[in-house]
Amino acid sequence: MEKVIDESIQGSTLNTESVERNARKLYIESYGCQMNFSDSEIVASILAGEGFNTTSELEEADLVLVNTCSIREKAETTVRKRLEKFNAVKKSKPHMKVGVLGCMAERLKSQLLEEEKIVDMVVGPDAYKDLPNLVREIDEGRNAVNVILSKEETYGDVAPVRLNTNGVTAFVSITRGCDNMCTFCVVPFTRGRERSRDPQSVVQEVNELWEQGYKEVTLLGQNVDSYLWYGGGLKKDFEKASDIQKATSVNFSGLLAMVAEAQPRMRIRFSTSNPQDMTLDVVRTMAKYKNICNYIHLPVQSGSDRILKAMNRLHTREEYMNLITEIRRIIPDCGISQDMIAGFPGETEEDHQDTLSLMEFVKYDFGFMFAYSERPGTMASRKLEDDIPEAIKKRRLQEIIAMQQKHSLYRTQQHLGKVEEVLIEGPSRKSDAHWMGRTSSNTVVVFPKKQYQVGQFVMVSIKDCTSATLLGEAVGLAENSN
Ligand code: SAH
Ligand code: F3S
Repeated sequence: MEKVIDESIQGSTLNTESVERNARKLYIESYGCQMNFSDSEIVASILAGEGFNTTSELEEADLVLVNTCSIREKAETTVRKRLEKFNAVKKSKPHMKVGVLGCMAERLKSQLLEEEKIVDMVVGPDAYKDLPNLVREIDEGRNAVNVILSKEETYGDVAPVRLNTNGVTAFVSITRGCDNMCTFCVVPFTRGRERSRDPQSVVQEVNELWEQGYKEVTLLGQNVDSYLWYGGGLKKDFEKASDIQKATSVNFSGLLAMVAEAQPRMRIRFSTSNPQDMTLDVVRTMAKYKNICNYIHLPVQSGSDRILKAMNRLHTREEYMNLITEIRRIIPDCGISQDMIAGFPGETEEDHQDTLSLMEFVKYDFGFMFAYSERPGTMASRKLEDDIPEAIKKRRLQEIIAMQQKHSLYRTQQHLGKVEEVLIEGPSRKSDAHWMGRTSSNTVVVFPKKQYQVGQFVMVSIKDCTSATLLGEAVGLAENSN
């Protein structure tokens, strides 16, 4: 590992040595998107340099951190319940400190600390490098807050400490923040402006993961298609870049190709794609490299042009359908998943029917479906009344979920009788005698373990399915396996 988090200690010895020396215990919980789980690995790395080893036992922790999500009200309620629990434990362990990280820290700033007094430390998503100072502050009995958002921070120079890892799949973040300003979404406020990470540091992290035995990476960003590296700086300032910077810039399809070529046997995934920014270049790059998985998470949120416009999603229903058609033309067996919001302000029954008919058109493999939750500070909360009654939101959401279940089953059935390449991720949750893995299209496959091992690519003959899982039998190692 060449990346160091403390310049006084060089090279790969850093983490092992400091981990051996470390005396204090860090307990960290993460909520929300994959990016938060990835950020927690950066936080664990930074704190490893400050004398902390992670523990899975809350009771033995010196420092308890919760990496939080603000995307819907329910996400915040869940975190608040955890904070109550941590405070209850803290009563009998006065030396224990509690800190809040991530989007709730950014959204509520010092409120949790000064008004509600339920935490000792508040750290926003761009301030993790300040953790050594902030921890010193709380060690000395003072409260600590840093919620400054950055124009440059990508943590590209921090080697994450992999947490809860299966040793096979890992996340690598490539962008931070989001410039899209969807009117319902709190992310642009909590995670700041969009910036991209140096492609060399992305490739280096992927190389290191391969050397450590990982077999699959997911490149992460709120909107990966918008990735643009031109030597640093915000995406929105690209126009001001020099000619040389422009000529040597790397976009998302360029980055995908770099990563795919650097590790031709590593599976590459990415998330999340945005229909307004996704180019066919990206789809062609996926088709060109065998190791880039045939799977796209392509949230649409609504099938109604009127609602898409009110959401500030900068594409129409027709443009989205054309993109789907092109994806299927270039990659016929591409897995496609969605995010949907039911009951956005002003949504009529007709708008809702448009969502259902768009779903019929795409027949997504799976999806993440939510009832609209008004978030303070967003454009929708300022300009639009949250006027769809809860009962109607719920009913529409149920209809969307039921339709998705039908399509999921339709999609899993298409795999029956085929032999698919599967990367073994670990034991099946339901049976210790079975492995669980995924196809390139991201469908979960469960099959008897036989002589196979975690991290191997195996060919699995698909015999049966539910709407969520394929059931099969391994028939041999894949060409790709070692
Ligand atoms: N581009 C991001 C989106 C993050 S939010 C990404 O990486 O996936 C994830 C999903 O939460 C969104 O796609 C949307 O469907 C949902 N969501 C966001 N804000 C919401 C709100 N206010 N109410 C309900 N669902 C919301
Ligand atoms: Fe949110 Fe839209 Fe960005 S959903 S994260 S503002 S693409």
